[in-house]
Amino acid sequence: NKSKASRKEKLQEICRLLSDEIEVFDWVGFYLVDPNADRELVLGPYVGEATDHTRIPFGKGICGQAAETNETFVVPDVSKADNYLSCSIHVKAEIVVPIKKDGKFIAELDIDSHTRDSITEEHQKMLEEICDLTADLF
Ligand code: SME
Repeated sequence: NKSKASRKEKLQEICRLLSDEIEVFDWVGFYLVDPNADRELVLGPYVGEATDHTRIPFGKGICGQAAETNETFVVPDVSKADNYLSCSIHVKAEIVVPIKKDGKFIAELDIDSHTRDSITEEHQKMLEEICDLTADLF
């Protein structure tokens, strides 16, 4: 399916650009709602270390909580977060931004940083704009 392949490539390119351009973004990836599962996320395109968390149920971890609330989730210090799924001991901060199609949660952008307190309000605003545009790919 041609349009699906190009969506994958575009999501991959967004990950590459964000991780290349923003020093403190160390892992950048998309999780998508699995249409064949009950409230479960599946890992999509990403840049960074491989992760064990390729499937995440709604409600679990930061990713699952963002899926459930359909709201941006910023964690300045992951050591202080409960309900957190660790992907790497190096990760210190995380942001997850939902992607909505007609208000409905369909996917999310997940970014990990190796620097505590590194995710700014400007980052959040920029990422929310990117996610608004990304929704058009779905
Ligand atoms: N830390 C996430 C899991 C995904 S990895 O960061 C890639 C969480 O708590 O949901």
